[in-house]
Amino acid sequence: MAEPLVFAFPEQEILAKNIAEKLQLALGVAEIRYFPDDESYVRICSDVRNRTIILVTDLAHPNHKILPLMFMAETLKELGANRIILVAPYLPYMRQDKRFNSGEAVSAILFAKYLSSWVDGLVTVDPHLHRIDRLTTIYSAPAVLTLHAAEKIAAWIYQNVPSPLIIGPDAESEQWVSEVARGAKAEYVILEKIRLGDREVRVSIPKIMDTSKTPVLVDDMISTGTSMIATIKKLLASGFQSPVCVAVHGLFCGHAYQDLLQAGAKQVVTCNTIAHSSNQIDVSDLIAKNIKDLF
Ligand code: R5P
Repeated sequence: MAEPLVFAFPEQEILAKNIAEKLQLALGVAEIRYFPDDESYVRICSDVRNRTIILVTDLAHPNHKILPLMFMAETLKELGANRIILVAPYLPYMRQDKRFNSGEAVSAILFAKYLSSWVDGLVTVDPHLHRIDRLTTIYSAPAVLTLHAAEKIAAWIYQNVPSPLIIGPDAESEQWVSEVARGAKAEYVILEKIRLGDREVRVSIPKIMDTSKTPVLVDDMISTGTSMIATIKKLLASGFQSPVCVAVHGLFCGHAYQDLLQAGAKQVVTCNTIAHSSNQIDVSDLIAKNIKDLF
């Protein structure tokens, strides 16, 4: 059987190239673009017959990326691809995981249902699992691989931050913050966060904390930046030096990145699950090493 082929969606060309290189696989050629009226155009130029196809996507701000993905996956199957493995390092639509108010669409479940029907395998990094404890509860694709960036983040902190104190924003974050702290050989604290709205949170920090340490805020994602900005303000007011902000996924809605720096972050660092200038932690080898199990 022919070797698997790696296709890159726009915005994830570098990650796709890195993954292909690490797996010693070739990159496929496809044209993915938008017509002037925003409809999507997809053309697959490589021979995909009887091949496993690895699609490397960026699904941040997902709505206009979903249709091209579906067109790509369905066309690959029509053209004879054997199996389609989707690498979506950032998996969107994970937060609306229940009906909070009557009549709401539970988008996490609906999105999972459609995505699962398009691909044979899904590889992702630190999906936002809150009330759903594992991805396979909602994703029915034949193979689902959930990877964790904690070790990579810990290594980055260990190498780059002197005397760090790892800070998790809320109880939910303890699962990965504790692992990051262990790997970075650092202590950690977990704060209390109450979300009052999309752009409003209240953060409480414990009274006794060692302010001589470098605070490192670690979260799975930075969306509007509200959570980290509120925490930065509290830490600075308590006598800490400017914190380093680290997230797996940097969505940076609006001016979130600039807002974080302006609020006093010393540095904002993310994994390359979503392409951004803050990417300093490379997850391509994590993906390449583990995806092998799927083919
Ligand atoms: C919340 O549950 C997540 O772990 C993040 O803390 C949250 O999504 C960050 O969002 P924002 O940057 O908008 O505060």
